[in-house]
Amino acid sequence: MKNRVCGDIEKLVLKAVEQTSEAILITDAAGTIIYANQAMEEVSGYSAGELVGKRPSVLKNAGSHGPDFYRELWATVKSGRKWHGRLLNRRKDGTLYALDTDITPVKDPGGEITHFISVRRDITRELQLEKQLIESQKLESLGLLAGQIAHDFNNMLTIILGSVELVLEDTKEGTISHKLLAETLKTARQTAELTKQLLVFARRQETRPKKSCANDLIKDAELILKRLMANNIDLRMELQRDLWDAELEATQFRQVIMNLTINARDAMPDGGAMRLATSNVAVGEDSPWPIPPGEYVLVELKDTGTGIPQEILDKVFDPFFTTKPKGKGTGLGLSIVYGIVKQHKGEVLVDSAPGKGTTFRLFFPRAK
Ligand SMILES: Nc1ncnc2c1ncn2[C@@H]1O[C@H](COP(=O)(O)OP(=O)(O)O)[C@@H](O)[C@H]1O
Ligand SMILES: [Mg+2]
Repeated sequence: MKNRVCGDIEKLVLKAVEQTSEAILITDAAGTIIYANQAMEEVSGYSAGELVGKRPSVLKNAGSHGPDFYRELWATVKSGRKWHGRLLNRRKDGTLYALDTDITPVKDPGGEITHFISVRRDITRELQLEKQLIESQKLESLGLLAGQIAHDFNNMLTIILGSVELVLEDTKEGTISHKLLAETLKTARQTAELTKQLLVFARRQETRPKKSCANDLIKDAELILKRLMANNIDLRMELQRDLWDAELEATQFRQVIMNLTINARDAMPDGGAMRLATSNVAVGEDSPWPIPPGEYVLVELKDTGTGIPQEILDKVFDPFFTTKPKGKGTGLGLSIVYGIVKQHKGEVLVDSAPGKGTTFRLFFPRAK
């Protein structure tokens, strides 16, 4: 009787190990994998058959941990202690994932280590959400600062512009004074334009969104988009039929698409392709996008351009951040995109790597 109960419990424990959402890997004392559970197969993309008999290094570390990291890990577990830390691995398909990992040595009655049990929790999405949060907090405070300055500037510029216009009218044409005043007026107007753009980033502009279909707004802008594109760039549209409505302000939405299109063009000096696509997406807790769950209209702009290096990816939405030569870039295009999308209660994500092109994804909440 006692034996049967034990046998049942063992079976249940095995089932629990097999079915838990934590990825479990067991190796022998030499580090050769002897068991991988279902979650391990799912998170890594390798089947248990592909893992058993191999070393854990088959899970391809992402190259972000140096040799010291692994030496320390091994030294800890070989001395009989538990190791806890964060591992960055690559899935079979090459994509990165982050794991919160415990490695526990198992000892026989004589105190010899016989196995190592590693329990890993996939925290990729948590890390993405965390990063996204930090990024949006940064842009939030930049927006507050820029908004306050732009607001004050705007008031002062109104006085400057008004006065200069009046004085200019009273000044004789052809004189040096007239020329200088005209130049002053031009500069003041440019400054006013810049301030206006900062106000868009800071979301200080009023918007009057209307329930609309993004497809219609895109089709209205198609001619302008085509004109913006050089001849050697192939512009493709894939607009989903029966696209949900979203609360959109037409001019602002168009500005977003135009800014992104201009950037895509600039990133493809030798030509390429840009794809503009729309679709309905329901984002759940387990979605690949680090944004709040909900139903969204997704607008995707994908180019085959230069791509953006990792180290500047976090900065592209900052106002005045540009990699373009003076006179060409203002560094405001993406800040404006960000401000407008946020004002629409939406989200914007960028996905890019050098040589792999760039994809911007805009998520607008589905209209009720
Ligand atoms: N589609 C893209 N491909 C490659 N790099 C891009 C793309 N879009 C934006 N960037 C990078 O982001 C920077 C900021 O873009 P933006 O805010 O529009 O300012 P600007 O275009 O004036 O430089 C660009 O200078 C460029 O380095
Ligand atoms: Mg730009």
